[in-house]
Amino acid sequence: MKSLLYLILLLSGLPLTMYACSSNDAPAETPIPTPEPEPDPDPSPDAKPSNGHSLVVYFSCTNTTKGIAEQIAEITNGECYRIMPEVAYTSDDLNYNNSSSRANREQNDPSARPAISGKIENLSDYDVIFLGYPIWWGKAPKIIFTFLESYDFSRKTIVPFCTSHSSGIGSSDTDLHALAAQAVWKQGRRLGGNETKEDIMNWIESMELNLNQSNVGSFNLSEGENGKAPTVRLNSGYDMPMVGLGTYSLLGDVCVNSVVAAIQNGFRKFDTAYMYNNEESVGEGIRRSGVPREEIFVCTKLYPNQYSDAENAINMALAKLGLDYIDLMLLHHPGTNDVAAYKAMERAVVQGKIRSVGLSNYYVKEMEAFLPQVSIKPALVQNEIHPYYQENEVIRYMHQQGIAVEAWYPLGGRGYTSALLNDETISRIAAVHGKSSAQVILRWDLQKGVVVIPGSSNPNHQKENISLFDFELTDEEMNSINALDRNEKHDWY
Ligand SMILES: NC(=O)c1ccc[n+]([C@@H]2O[C@H](COP(=O)([O-])OP(=O)(O)OC[C@H]3O[C@@H](n4cnc5c(N)ncnc54)[C@H](OP(=O)(O)O)[C@@H]3O)[C@@H](O)[C@H]2O)c1
Ligand SMILES: Cc1cc2nc3c(=O)[nH]c(=O)nc-3n(C[C@H](O)[C@H](O)[C@H](O)COP(=O)(O)O)c2cc1C
Repeated sequence: MKSLLYLILLLSGLPLTMYACSSNDAPAETPIPTPEPEPDPDPSPDAKPSNGHSLVVYFSCTNTTKGIAEQIAEITNGECYRIMPEVAYTSDDLNYNNSSSRANREQNDPSARPAISGKIENLSDYDVIFLGYPIWWGKAPKIIFTFLESYDFSRKTIVPFCTSHSSGIGSSDTDLHALAAQAVWKQGRRLGGNETKEDIMNWIESMELNLNQSNVGSFNLSEGENGKAPTVRLNSGYDMPMVGLGTYSLLGDVCVNSVVAAIQNGFRKFDTAYMYNNEESVGEGIRRSGVPREEIFVCTKLYPNQYSDAENAINMALAKLGLDYIDLMLLHHPGTNDVAAYKAMERAVVQGKIRSVGLSNYYVKEMEAFLPQVSIKPALVQNEIHPYYQENEVIRYMHQQGIAVEAWYPLGGRGYTSALLNDETISRIAAVHGKSSAQVILRWDLQKGVVVIPGSSNPNHQKENISLFDFELTDEEMNSINALDRNEKHDWY
């Protein structure tokens, strides 16, 4: 199911329409609404969204519904789409005291379907549609009918909500069901213009919509335990441990034993690559550990010399790892045919061979050029990040895009670790907490919302590196480490 959805994913962003029907056209006084019986509880079955992405569609003339819609989008990490009438509603049009005003005529005409300007091009990206409107004479405005008749809502969950002066939602939502009979409809709710965020959150939570409320960029570290890293929910909908073992330079038995030891120490994520020449050993270590494959998250990468025949390269990675799916596959570097290789990974997602796709060594300029050419947004970007090379702008950019950021060379990389581990500031902070410098650096990453993959073949170091959850760096300590940035790259890419 998830695969099918990926097939139809389009990256093209949803056009955000910032259209105001008429800014000062609030009704002069409230019409007397016909009292509506409370609706029956919605008998429809629970929604089973497969990617959990939400879209908040709304119509609003005096911005009350807009305010609520934006709060819902913020809470659900969804996007907003404003229904824009082809012909704007003037304040005369909205004068409900005039029986022949446009709004009143439309509400009294069963066949009225006011035209909408623009279209949602990527409705297929969303599983849950919140649908907001102002109550007009106890009902939804007819433009909502136009909207519902314009799209196919099969397999979507629709959550209606309304604003009003004082009327309840009445039957305004259930009247809409027939217009999108293929959808799963949730019971609608009236939300007052002054509804608190907490009220809205509680309402959304009560519906158990399985929304993908990605925590990319802001981790709840209190969920972690030493030896058990918490997970980050990627934009693909999959959960990934925040601490993994980097396996660069670990070969043969050293690699197998390192993976087995790491799993014993609580690691559930491994980072390998075609270029590391150890995919077989990583797979072997996982099998030897006895921990079920489904509990382990494996990331591997295609190298640029594989981009021209990425399909075979993906099959080869699966064969070497001895796995029937790869949790995350990255392109190792920008290079000739990288878009074609990424598209091959997208196809492999559809085929169930790969679950999430991402990139490595792509910065803002590279991302800006790359993103418009692909369909599935990268779930993760893996770049060099350590206290001497912090890449804060890049981190901010990726997080804004909903893309997880992972630090390679988190401890500075081989040949540079001693400089970082003996850094005066880091050592001082480590002494305060009774922790090692490595732990302070890794905790600093996590508190910045950056995932880490420290490399180690030493079981004691591994244990340290996944014991990051019984202390917290203060803002002052975070700032002191932030101040160590000196744009000092430890590798060429
Ligand atoms: N995408 C890319 O282009 C790219 C590039 C480079 C790396 N990577 C990935 O990033 C991972 C991490 O990078 P890395 O392994 O090269 O460098 P790193 O994690 O910064 O440092 C690894 C070095 O630190 C030592 N170490 C680890 N934990 C320690 C601890 N608690 N105390 C003291 N020393 C400790 C290790 O030695 P011991 O073995 O003795 O513990 C090893 O020498 C790689 O393994 C790879 O998976 C990706
Ligand atoms: C034509 C029209 C009819 C309305 N009918 C009702 C009504 O029946 N009950 C009510 O409480 N409010 C009614 N209102 C008030 C709106 O529902 C309320 O102001 C709403 O929050 C406006 O939302 P908006 O600012 O997003 O456009 C009506 C407003 C208009 C323009």
